[in-house]
Amino acid sequence: MRTQVAIIGSGPAGLLLGRLLELACVQSVILESRSRDYVLGRIRAGVLESGTVELLERAGVAKRLHEEALVHDSCGIAFAGGQLSIDLKGLTGKSVTVYGQTEVTHDLMNARAASGAPSVYEAEDVALHDFGGTSARVSYRHQGVAHEVACDFIAGCDGFHGVSRRSIPASALKIFERVYPFGWLGLLSDVPPPWHELIYANSDRGFALASLRSPTRVRCYVQCSLEDRVENWSDEQFWDEFRRRIGDEMAARVPNAPSIEKSIAPLRSFVAEPLRFGRLFLAGDAAHIVPPTGAKGLNLAASDVLYLYESLRSFYREKSERGLDEYSPRCLKRIWRAERFSWWMTSQLHRFPDDAFGRRMQETELEYLFESRAAQQSMAENYVGLPFEPMGGS
Ligand code: FAD
Ligand code: PHB
Repeated sequence: MRTQVAIIGSGPAGLLLGRLLELACVQSVILESRSRDYVLGRIRAGVLESGTVELLERAGVAKRLHEEALVHDSCGIAFAGGQLSIDLKGLTGKSVTVYGQTEVTHDLMNARAASGAPSVYEAEDVALHDFGGTSARVSYRHQGVAHEVACDFIAGCDGFHGVSRRSIPASALKIFERVYPFGWLGLLSDVPPPWHELIYANSDRGFALASLRSPTRVRCYVQCSLEDRVENWSDEQFWDEFRRRIGDEMAARVPNAPSIEKSIAPLRSFVAEPLRFGRLFLAGDAAHIVPPTGAKGLNLAASDVLYLYESLRSFYREKSERGLDEYSPRCLKRIWRAERFSWWMTSQLHRFPDDAFGRRMQETELEYLFESRAAQQSMAENYVGLPFEPMGGS
């Protein structure tokens, strides 16, 4: 098989890239190691920046989003018995959109299926070859049969544990990493949310987040130990702990609703530089990870994809390699800003072991946030999403 761009991974990054390329008449094949149902069953992000929503509109996959998604003009911070509502809209003119990653993935998968563009699910032993030169190859096995795709470019959209980043010689990559000493236990439940905005809580017992997916579905998290196991948390224990952390204003209204999903995610900050090696381009979690506290992971994957799409379109339309050369530095500027914000949110809101000085810093920082409009504006500006970098710096 021959194609122009071989895309590894059918998460939001791979699917969105495939869709944008298709609209620009650039061919692609998506190779995904898991099944379609497995990919759709993963519960992950829930908050979209307005730039991400605009990109989904541009990709022609935002119809259901506009019918079903919830637009939030504020978000809350609970701390020391008080609750601050940050007026995102008033401070920045922008809102955020609550629409699950599962739904984004679903809409993109449906659009690809309707267009007939090729995707291979349950592709085994995906391996990248010869991408240091002027073309590349990807081999894989499907239902026991060996296949090979010859291509101009490979887009490594296969997440943090994927094969793409690992295929680049270690000496060509610089890795920056911070692993946090805790995780998030998340619970999904079909119950109407008693909160009208997301609430991020810093409590003496650790972090908690009240989020939602729809008018009838909540998503909540509590900071947990890395040794914790989902099986050790009954739904009742989760809600008891969540109530103790979320702040007095909300605690009495928290339901004891049964879970439909529970999972634990470790927290990590990670960046691999650069995002390009020859004909291989990394995008999304394959190149960087943020802790979920700032809701940036999915949004950052979307901006990488926009930049890669623009670079590839300019290559095919104008025979220009300039966009491809600029891809990595252009991405890294926005990546590091999102890394900074996610690290800051994580640092201010979680309980760190044996860190009395750090605790005082959190108290001081959050008091300042509660009192200063300037501090709230800075947080709001980052939370709603910083602007995309134009191509060619223009
Ligand atoms: P992914 O969504 O990881 O997609 C990569 C795809 O590549 C997957 O489908 C994978 O199966 C496939 N793949 C992997 N290896 C191979 C291979 N060898 N060959 C072919 N295919 C392969 N962000 C938030 O903002 N809020 C959250 O609450 C949140 N929770 C998260 C919880 C977890 C457990 C994780 C892992 C991430 C979470 N994130 C969250 C981050 C957000 O979901 C990611 O940033 C987003 O999924 C990135 O999209 P992606 O397409 O780059 O990667
Ligand atoms: C979620 O709804 O899953 C969610 C929302 C905001 C975050 C992280 C996760 O910062």
